Amino acid sequence: MDRFLIEGGHALQGTVKAGGSKNACLPILVASLLTDDSFVLHRVPNLRDVRTTLKILTALGKKVSFSDGTVHITADGNLKNSLPYELVKQMRASFWVAGPLLARFREAVIPLPGGCALGARPVDIHLKGFERLGAVCQNESGNVILSAKKLEPAKITLRFPSVGATQNLMMCAALIPGETVLENVAKEPEIDDVAAVLNKMGAEVASDDKGRLIIRGRHTLHGTEHTVVADRIESGSYMIAAAACRADVTVTDCVPEHNSILLEYLQEAGVPLDIGGNFVHVKPYCGSLKPMRIRTAPYPGFATDLQPQWMALMALAAGASEIDETIFENRFMAAPELVRMGADIVTEKTIAHINGVKELTGAHVMASDLRGGFSLLIAGLCAKGTTEIERIYHIDRGYENPEGKLNALGARITRYNPDKDEF
Ligand code: UD1
Repeated sequence: MDRFLIEGGHALQGTVKAGGSKNACLPILVASLLTDDSFVLHRVPNLRDVRTTLKILTALGKKVSFSDGTVHITADGNLKNSLPYELVKQMRASFWVAGPLLARFREAVIPLPGGCALGARPVDIHLKGFERLGAVCQNESGNVILSAKKLEPAKITLRFPSVGATQNLMMCAALIPGETVLENVAKEPEIDDVAAVLNKMGAEVASDDKGRLIIRGRHTLHGTEHTVVADRIESGSYMIAAAACRADVTVTDCVPEHNSILLEYLQEAGVPLDIGGNFVHVKPYCGSLKPMRIRTAPYPGFATDLQPQWMALMALAAGASEIDETIFENRFMAAPELVRMGADIVTEKTIAHINGVKELTGAHVMASDLRGGFSLLIAGLCAKGTTEIERIYHIDRGYENPEGKLNALGARITRYNPDKDEF
C-alpha cells in the first residue's frame, strides 16, 4: 500500500488549481441512471470514489468512459436494479443509486452500506423519504429491498438535513410526475449542482422562500452535459495547508463564497487573505495564530469535512482552541496521530481541546479516513523533520494528485510503496 514521505519545513509558494467537487460528482454520475440518453460530465476529478462510482454504473449496465476529466455515459442494453455488496462496501455513497433505481423500476435491491469509520451513518432518512413517496422498504439479509406499486409525489420533512438523503430523494422525485416538496433539506452547494443537472434533464427543481426544495418530476428525463462545481473541500484544505505553513499560496478556480465561514475564521485567526471572484490568496504572516472555538454544522456552517484539517492548523495556534463536532460522532481519528507529531489534543466525546504548540515534529503516522489523512499531510508539511503517512488510499479517495499539487508549490512529498521496495 502506498505511503507518503514528507520532508517538512519547506516554504510553499505559488498557485494551486481547484478540481471539480467529488461530493457533487458522485450523485450527479448516479443521476445518469434516470435516463437511457447519453450523459456527459466535465471537470470530473480522477479519484478512487469517482472510479468506484463508475464501476457501479458499469455493474448496473451503463457503458462508461473517462478521460481528461470528462465522463461519457451511455446505455448498454438493459439496466439492472440490484448492486453487489462488494461495490457498496467500498463507498457509502453507493447507496445513492437507490433513488434513481426505485424511480425507474419501482423495485431495487441495495446492500446496506453498514457502519464506517465516522460512526454509525444510518440511512433511515433516505428510507423514510422513499416510504413517503409510496415505497415499501424491507431489510433482508443485509439488503434493503425497495418496492412500490406506484410512486406518488409527497411532502416530506427530513428529520435532519442529510446531504445524501436530500440528493437521493431529489433524484427519485425528479422521475415522479407531480410536485414533491422536501423540507429541512441540506443546502450544500453540491445540492445546487445536482438540482442544476436534474433541471437540464427536464425536471424542475427550485428552492422556495422557506428554503424548501420543490421538485416537479417528469415521466421521462433526457440526457445532458454538465461541468461540475469546484470542490470547496479540496480548495479549503489547500487554504488551511497554506495557512498552517505560513505560505504564500493562491487557490484558483474555486468559489470563495462556498467557503465563507472558513475564510472568516482564517482571517479571525490572523491569516491574511486576498479574496477574489474565483480565487483566494493566502498570504504569509509573522504574528502568532489566534486560538479559536468553532463547531461544525450543516452548510452554511463550518464543514465537518474541513474539521480535521482545521485541527492541524489550531495545533499550532498560540493558546487553547476547541472544536465541537456536531455532524459525526467519531470524527477525531486524526487527533491521536497529530499527538504523535507533538500536538497537544484531548478529545472528549464530540469536543476536541487543542492546546497550541510552537512546532510539530515529523513522525510515522497512519491515516484512518479521508479528511483526517489530509490533516496529517498538513501537519507533515509544517513539521520539523520527516513524516511518513501510511494508508494514504484514504487521501486518494478525495484528493487528486495531492503530492503533485503540493510539490509544485515547493513541498517535498514522495509517494512510495514499501511492498515494492522502491521509491
Ligand atoms: C455527505 C458527504 C460527506 C460529508 C457529509 C456531511 C458525500 C458523498 N459525502 O455525506 O463528505 O461529511 O455529507 O456534510 O457527499 N444520518 C442519519 N440518517 C440518514 C442519513 C444521515 O442519521 O439516513 C446522519 C449521519 O449519520 C450523520 C449526519 O446525518 O451523522 C450527516 O450525514 P449526511 O449529511 O447524510 O452525510 P452523507 O450524505 O453521508
